[in-house]
Amino acid sequence: MANFGFIPADHPRTVADGDPEPWAPMVLTNVLGPALLANAALPHLETTGGRLVLIGSVAGLKNSPANLYSATKWAVTGMAENLRMYATSRGVGVTLVNPGVTDTAFWQGGVPPFALSPSPSPRPSASPSASRPTSTSTP
Ligand SMILES: NC(=O)c1ccc[n+]([C@@H]2O[C@H](COP(=O)([O-])OP(=O)(O)OC[C@H]3O[C@@H](n4cnc5c(N)ncnc54)[C@H](OP(=O)(O)O)[C@@H]3O)[C@@H](O)[C@H]2O)c1
Repeated sequence: MANFGFIPADHPRTVADGDPEPWAPMVLTNVLGPALLANAALPHLETTGGRLVLIGSVAGLKNSPANLYSATKWAVTGMAENLRMYATSRGVGVTLVNPGVTDTAFWQGGVPPFALSPSPSPRPSASPSASRPTSTSTP
């Protein structure tokens, strides 16, 4: 399982502002990390018929403004699909898990910022009795 990924504590979350210094460790960890794990694990998984699990994010399925972390998770989404094309014919499964905001050490003791974002106006529902929770942006 390729699990670990992070946003640097001082990362302003966009490529439009702030200091680029923390970007390289984030990109290397979030993108190169799963690739290195796949490289090391695939030969063994081929002999056992095992499964590679990549932890992405909803941020790897949805866009948010100038968000570099999101771009690293889009890379994980693409990597999982590309690995699947390669691995399934060799008897190896590939699973991509894309969590939403979860209160873990990922947030380094802080409050997930999106959890405090105002929700967009609810969309009119087809049925007056059916109310759905409104969505918020995710990491
Ligand atoms: N939390 C969210 O809101 C959220 C949302 C979407 C996606 N994700 C993604 O979910 C994944 C896991 O995030 P999380 O929230 O569970 O983060 P987390 O609470 O920070 O947990 C990270 C895990 O990685 C381990 N780890 C840290 N550095 C490591 C290293 N150098 N080598 C091996 N393991 C290491 C930690 O082990 P120790 O406990 O031993 O330190 C911990 O078990 C990440 O890819 C993240 O991008 C998180």
